[in-house]
Amino acid sequence: MRILGIESSCDETGVAVLDVEPSGEAHIVGECLASQVALHEKYGGVVPELASREHMRNLPLLLEELFSKSGVTLKEIDGIGVTCGPGLKGCLLIGVTFAQGLAAARQVPLFPVNHIEGHILSGELHTPGLKPPYIALVVSGGHTEILLVEGLGKYSCLCRTRDDAAGEAFDKSANLLGLNYPGGARLAATAEQAAGRRSRFTLPRVGREMEDFSFSGLKTAVLLLIKKNRELLDSDPTAMAEICWTIQDAIVDALVVKVVREVQKRGLPLVVCGGVSANTELRRRLQAKCPEVHVPPLRHCVDNGAMIAYVAGRYLAAGAQPPRLNIHSRWPVETLSASSPVTA
Ligand code: KG4
Ligand code: ZN
Repeated sequence: MRILGIESSCDETGVAVLDVEPSGEAHIVGECLASQVALHEKYGGVVPELASREHMRNLPLLLEELFSKSGVTLKEIDGIGVTCGPGLKGCLLIGVTFAQGLAAARQVPLFPVNHIEGHILSGELHTPGLKPPYIALVVSGGHTEILLVEGLGKYSCLCRTRDDAAGEAFDKSANLLGLNYPGGARLAATAEQAAGRRSRFTLPRVGREMEDFSFSGLKTAVLLLIKKNRELLDSDPTAMAEICWTIQDAIVDALVVKVVREVQKRGLPLVVCGGVSANTELRRRLQAKCPEVHVPPLRHCVDNGAMIAYVAGRYLAAGAQPPRLNIHSRWPVETLSASSPVTA
């Protein structure tokens, strides 16, 4: 089936066309992404109203670009997948109404896609032969959880964050250091400059023994560490790289300890997904400690249209009828099984 995917849940507008086989194998026919980093940078974070307006402006242009680049026409599309949540409501609404227009014009099924399920299935999209059961570490700007994946739509939570998400911990720490939005990626890039060097800074190891993740205490510790070392940080660029390394080390350590525990207990492969899976140090440590780790390529760690097309394609290829379309700012992926139209 040839599926068009539309993603507009936050600050990236993504569209893609994929050919999805009932076996789960897929071929990416074409994809386009418009990042809004430059737009939101001067405000220090995503401004929801501006993001919605930008999605509205970008979607028709991106679709045109996608079709002209890939040589595909709307007539060849067998179905459409659109992100319906979790995300910013105004942004979701733009993507959904755009998709509804296309689906009505072409009389093709429109499948509502859970954004987090999109991130999770990126692992299967890029690893032919990878089948559940496996463990998924979902680490994005709003989510941090370890899930047991037992099939399409069948996710159970093994461990989640009690407060901030890992991406949020990166972003808030970056903000405290005066690194502009998109802070997480900037903090990680600065940390890499100090990789392999001994850092002059230390942070407490947060919640190693706890069942859940918790990053809010780390935020306070980072704030105190920065205050104490303000002068040094302002005068010594190597100190900046070292403190970024120390912060990254603390966040990554908290993730790795719990993931390794689950992987060892269950003896299953691991998929790492969501924006923070772009983090080089997280990948390095998980690959060193777990026997089978799958991480999507960098362009598919962050939000994109391909993962959305893939999820819709998997459900439609399995014969699922699209459920009622609605948008959800919150939409835990574990609740999908209850309403999942696919039992296989
Ligand atoms: O999945 P995503 O693109 O959007 C959401 O669905 O939230 O994830 C965005 C998050 C942000 O918090 C960003 O700071 C973080 O991913 N991120 C990173 C890196 N690149 C993006 N965090 C750590 N290291 C990176 N290289
Ligand atoms: Zn995401």
